Amino acid sequence: MRIFNQRTHTQKLSYRVVLFCPKMALRIAIRRSLALSRSSALSLHHHRHCHAAASPLRRPEYVANRISDQNYVRIFDTTLRDGEQSPGAALTSTQKLAIARQLAKLGVDVIDAGFPAASADDFEAVKTIAKTVGNEWDKKTDYVPVICGLARCNMKDVTDAWEAVKHARRPRIHVFISTSDLHIKHKLRTTREKVVEMASNTVTFARNLGCDDVQFSPEDACRSEKEFLYSILGEVIAAGATTLNIADTVGFSIPNEFGQLISDIKANTRGINDVIISVHCHDDLGLSTANTLAVSACAGARQIEVTVNGIGERGGNASLEEVVMAMKCRGPHVLGGLYSGINTRQIIPSSKLLEECTGLHVQPNKAIVGANAFVHESGIHQLDGVLKHKNTYEIIAPEDVGLLRANNSGIVLGKLSGRHALQSRLKELGYELDNEKLNVVFWRFKAIADQKKRVSDADIIALVSDGETTRYEVTWKLLDVQVVCGTAGQSMATVKLVDPKGEEHKACSVGNGPVDSAYKAVDLIVKEPVRLLEYSTNDVLGGVDSTTKTTTRVSIQTNPDFVSEDQTFSGVGEGMDFIVSSVEAYIGALNNMLGNKDESSQTSNP
Ligand code: KIV
Ligand code: ZN
Repeated sequence: MRIFNQRTHTQKLSYRVVLFCPKMALRIAIRRSLALSRSSALSLHHHRHCHAAASPLRRPEYVANRISDQNYVRIFDTTLRDGEQSPGAALTSTQKLAIARQLAKLGVDVIDAGFPAASADDFEAVKTIAKTVGNEWDKKTDYVPVICGLARCNMKDVTDAWEAVKHARRPRIHVFISTSDLHIKHKLRTTREKVVEMASNTVTFARNLGCDDVQFSPEDACRSEKEFLYSILGEVIAAGATTLNIADTVGFSIPNEFGQLISDIKANTRGINDVIISVHCHDDLGLSTANTLAVSACAGARQIEVTVNGIGERGGNASLEEVVMAMKCRGPHVLGGLYSGINTRQIIPSSKLLEECTGLHVQPNKAIVGANAFVHESGIHQLDGVLKHKNTYEIIAPEDVGLLRANNSGIVLGKLSGRHALQSRLKELGYELDNEKLNVVFWRFKAIADQKKRVSDADIIALVSDGETTRYEVTWKLLDVQVVCGTAGQSMATVKLVDPKGEEHKACSVGNGPVDSAYKAVDLIVKEPVRLLEYSTNDVLGGVDSTTKTTTRVSIQTNPDFVSEDQTFSGVGEGMDFIVSSVEAYIGALNNMLGNKDESSQTSNP
């Protein structure tokens, strides 16, 4: 059986707290040793902070329309579907599979794997996830994620969705149709009666295909007339829907209003007790987490739809890490004991992987996963607060989301550390790499350790999430880059790349600055019609000896006047030298673009 709470009760904590004051480039390191039983700390402070109490909670057995424990909340992750609809977040099939695997590690109950009818690529990606991740069943815990495919209310979409997801051990079809008059009139150009007929016919069709786990979503539910909503929901329940997902499609609701809507649906919909109520909140007003929690806690929704880092259409979706950590933190005290099956230590690795694959940066002040989420800058917070007792300003232990404090010596890893030490630190940080990937990361680690006395956890996380471990088979590899730049004139770069056959290619170019000249030299070698859409670079830890992480996003330049932003490809580079890191990131994006080109040309139609 899976035990969710991973804390040990009598763990001795001895750690070094490293705090930053970026403005003054001041780094204060204060060692503090605590010989403190975690359980006694919990009992002293259980009302004032959120370090979760130990509780041997288990994930209830999976039954589509029922959850045996009324406090258990299913986590439906829609990063690969709604999340991928974020502008600029297009993912390749390889990246989707890597993310699905990570979502399974995270322990999400349902993976919304995509929209199979949208394209042959989407179909293949969902099918691959269903066949692989959807069958990685853990016999001991009975855990395997449900694999879900989206469909509009028509037979073709549903058939495609079923053909893609049916290979999973637990397949689900998710059908949706708009129910607000605004959408019915202007988008669907039909009538309410027709919408009800399409919805119930489609649910029946899905059930008749052999799918016994069918989710129905009334799109724009929050702006739909309530009586109409009760009636269409009653009809789809009668047709065989097992989950009803109430969508705040445009992020319009405020918490008490949304909670009331769910209560009203519960009170007025025929058959509602035979299905799971789900909620799907967008963040247009910044209320998606509040709406999701208010509704789960107060009104009985037991499936919540979220994305990692809160990515999604427009302002995004409710963020997995916020909702899950709020439940973990406050669930026992103020949310009636609600809990989820998420392994929260996988939150940071998931967030990093997503950032890397999409090229969408997490803002530093983002709750839970932002770079500053566990950094205390103010002197009062540092000296009078956290260092006297960490719970004064720290409501979540960084370890609980997959961040580790530096160890007692403060030296996490250095140039004498071997592969084994790196592997075990990676494991502690939540990354389990196979030998091949470990090799790649190890040599990159060595390169940094040669130049830097201490390699911190942040460096290591950046190394793993620099794209090397998930990108396509490398097409081009950087051998050398040299740049001459300064005030005397234009910058000039010489770049040497190696092609897949091992042949070396060299080019020189001038440009507006060192990065531009290096990118132009790469272009001269690769000769692909490419447009750089985004370039950003930041120091991992700050300071002149920090490693630099660079992210780029490119698109195919189909003709001089048109760049397709539908398909963009990102690359990440990381190293001590920002020019090298910039060129690595650019080559990574180009390799992703070229890899995707090959993959698309091999994809067959569904
Ligand atoms: O926002 C929305 O309405 C959706 C539906 C498909 C559930 O994403
Ligand atoms: Zn949505």
